[in-house]
Amino acid sequence: MIDLVCGGQAGDEGKGKISAYLSYKGNYDYCVRVGGPNAGHTVVQNGVSYTLKNIPSGFLNPKTKLVLGAGAYTKTEWLLDEVKKTNTQDRLIIDPYAVLITDEQTQAERGASHFMNHIGSVGTGLGQAVKERIERRDIKFAKDEPLLKEFIQDVPELLNRCLDKGGDILLEGTQGIKLSLLHGEYPFVTSRDTTASTFLGEAGLGPKSVRDVYVVFKPYITRVGPGPLEKEISDEKELEIYHTKGHEIGSVSKRLRRVGEFEKRSASRAIMINNCTKIAITHIDMFPGNDRVKKEEDFTPEAKKFLADLRALSAQVYPHPKIALISTGPDMEDTLVL
Ligand code: IMP
Ligand code: MG
Repeated sequence: MIDLVCGGQAGDEGKGKISAYLSYKGNYDYCVRVGGPNAGHTVVQNGVSYTLKNIPSGFLNPKTKLVLGAGAYTKTEWLLDEVKKTNTQDRLIIDPYAVLITDEQTQAERGASHFMNHIGSVGTGLGQAVKERIERRDIKFAKDEPLLKEFIQDVPELLNRCLDKGGDILLEGTQGIKLSLLHGEYPFVTSRDTTASTFLGEAGLGPKSVRDVYVVFKPYITRVGPGPLEKEISDEKELEIYHTKGHEIGSVSKRLRRVGEFEKRSASRAIMINNCTKIAITHIDMFPGNDRVKKEEDFTPEAKKFLADLRALSAQVYPHPKIALISTGPDMEDTLVL
């Protein structure tokens, strides 16, 4: 069966950490990633931190094969660098139609004030590559790159054969509901839809084999670019705590993330549109006194109130998911299973 991990806010909810935890503890045959290198993900194991653009967060489990679907976008040198860092050359699989962003595309994006200033693009060239793909230009696919030849396989065939044999797949989504091209806060969005059904399509999977859809939330919300935040925090001292203890600095953009209070409206939409069956909370330790707490009873009243409010909200939104995972610190093991 397929489990999916989606972002419930504006990206950087900690999908990487949750995906790493699930795949390390679970028994997935494949961990699949779609989307572009603008979406960094951070995985910490025993104090060692990996900041990745494309390699799926499930790489920590040596039994899991790693897949980039046709809806993935990368750059050859960035990908090969990550393959080396994570020592995953013998278990990476790439769809022939995953797109390789060219230097020209990266430069075009970085030189366009519409992308960089108005939308606040990360500047990887993803938006430019998507634009050229939609225009049916002569873009570069993974199948066209000799350096990636050993990794190329028919991904839809492979993944669906795995499902047919009773295997399991973890599909790691990117960004969050507020950044969806379709359901987000246009024009302050990324160049793709960022919801569960699109992630499936981008991987070459259908909806019938989905078991759980995890949607990840922080108790607050961050944005690395321009665009709406319902209640933005402007107090500099308070912001500094988010930027230091919360590590709220763009992993690819290196920008200090803007911070706002938790938004019920976007949370409801994320639950609904993703068909969320399980909620994962990260950064609960940003409420003082909750670092590495091992039992829900031991959370502080502030953290307990946040969880109670979220449960009340999800009781009202179809399909009424339960809170399943709570992250109490950056390390993969700092995770509470409810
Ligand atoms: P682009 O996708 O690089 O064009 O960026 C469009 C908008 O989405 C900008 O505001 C970016 O900061 C934001 N964005 C893109 N990817 C991510 C991400 O992975 N996390 C957070 N924000 C992102
Ligand atoms: Mg990120």
